[in-house]
Amino acid sequence: SMLKPFVDPLPLPAVMKNSGIRPDPDDAAKSVPFYRVAMEEIHQKVHRDLPPTRMWGFNGSSPGPIFETRSGQGLMVEWANQLPGKHFLPIDHTLHGAETDKPEVRCVIHLHGGRTPPTSDGYPEDWVVPGKSLLYHYPNKQNAALLFYHDHTMGINRLNIYAGLQGMFVIRDEVEDALNLPKGRYEIPLMLFDRFLRSDGQLEYPVSGDPKSPWVPEVYSNVMLANGRLFPYLEVEPRRYRFRVMNGSNARFFRLSFGDLLELHVIGGDQGLLQAPVKTQHALLTPAERTDIVFDFSKHAGEKIVLKSDSFDIMEFRVAAPGAKDSSSLPAMLRPVARIPESNAVRTRRLTLDETMNKVQESMGMLLNNTPWHMPVTEKPVIDTTEIWELVNLTEDTHPIHLHLVKFQVLDRRSFDVFHFQDTGEMRYTNRAIPAGPEEAGWKDTVRCEKGHVTRIIVPFEGYTGRYVWHCHLLEHEDNEMMRPFEVVEQGH
Ligand code: C2O
Ligand code: CU
Repeated sequence: SMLKPFVDPLPLPAVMKNSGIRPDPDDAAKSVPFYRVAMEEIHQKVHRDLPPTRMWGFNGSSPGPIFETRSGQGLMVEWANQLPGKHFLPIDHTLHGAETDKPEVRCVIHLHGGRTPPTSDGYPEDWVVPGKSLLYHYPNKQNAALLFYHDHTMGINRLNIYAGLQGMFVIRDEVEDALNLPKGRYEIPLMLFDRFLRSDGQLEYPVSGDPKSPWVPEVYSNVMLANGRLFPYLEVEPRRYRFRVMNGSNARFFRLSFGDLLELHVIGGDQGLLQAPVKTQHALLTPAERTDIVFDFSKHAGEKIVLKSDSFDIMEFRVAAPGAKDSSSLPAMLRPVARIPESNAVRTRRLTLDETMNKVQESMGMLLNNTPWHMPVTEKPVIDTTEIWELVNLTEDTHPIHLHLVKFQVLDRRSFDVFHFQDTGEMRYTNRAIPAGPEEAGWKDTVRCEKGHVTRIIVPFEGYTGRYVWHCHLLEHEDNEMMRPFEVVEQGH
């Protein structure tokens, strides 16, 4: 692009403000903060030299304001759909849930990574139309972590998120407080995503050649934005900073590095802190994954350092001259993460990730366990038991697979003979299992499932019984049947 890089300061999301209190649904003697959040059409600058871009945001911005919450401190949100009656991105009415008898503009919000009761989880079919609201309760009974909220509407989720319907949600707790990590203005939330921008600054969502079925299998766009801004810069002091980074792209994977492969420390992942910092030069992030990075600018006073994903520039850090001393720390031990023994699992499920040909439209589709969305629930884990899920990837792509409600650990990945498995149903491994890397050794909610591999996760099903979903977080796949319900059931069900 011909746009001048690094002319706009990095926008930092405003902190979401509550608009009162409500009785705590879990304990009527208590109250919880209440937030009213409006989804609305906005026009927002992405670059100094572009006119404002039409987007959909929350309370006037995209990404939306950031929730600052404490573990165990519940809250309520009224998600109010105040969007216009027409969508501005191309709906594919052949997709399940987006048929022509459905209203064009619908939304439902999910808190990604939240341990949330099923009635507040944003089930994809629980969408509301403009003028309507959803009243959701988030008990936040979970460890400190960076979560995010986003649209989850059946059949148009990829379009609603691409339009801008996502924002960050931080949970803090005492364990994290005690670590003396960089905080306040030295802790930077960073939501990264790519978009196609036209020369007039407007969003473009690509379409297939078939006007009846515009769905495309994935979107890799031409520019990368940081907190909604194209090539921003941030003035930093020569000291340690903490970056809470998430991948908010529809399909793009990031491989982040600072400058010319400078050393960084990964201190956490999707569901919170790792046991110990991991020294590395790269952080790999598939859509919806989060990473927590400490980077020390102290040796770079007066320099400029570019944050990149492979060869793409994302943003620039301008390091000031030496100044006040840094009183933060990077402890050698962060938070204990006990590995779950495989013997804890009461059951192992083998679940395939499949690519299929849709006979009617002759277009490609993706499935989980060869089963479309609307079929009866087949995964019914029992509450307070642990299972191993073997995700058998039969496709040509890597898929970020996400389970709602739970946090899990990644066991390993192992290559296998895909054709032999397809012909005979028999698993023939072609190599040893590769254990999850150290930066994946914490608690996760989204896992990278590489092609030709079986990825094994171990999952304690805790929190709530009821209906949830699991799906590919590559949003074009999710919208085209790569999503299934699961149901956590009572013992003896
Ligand atoms: Cu980011 Cu079903 O979620
Ligand atoms: Cu996928």
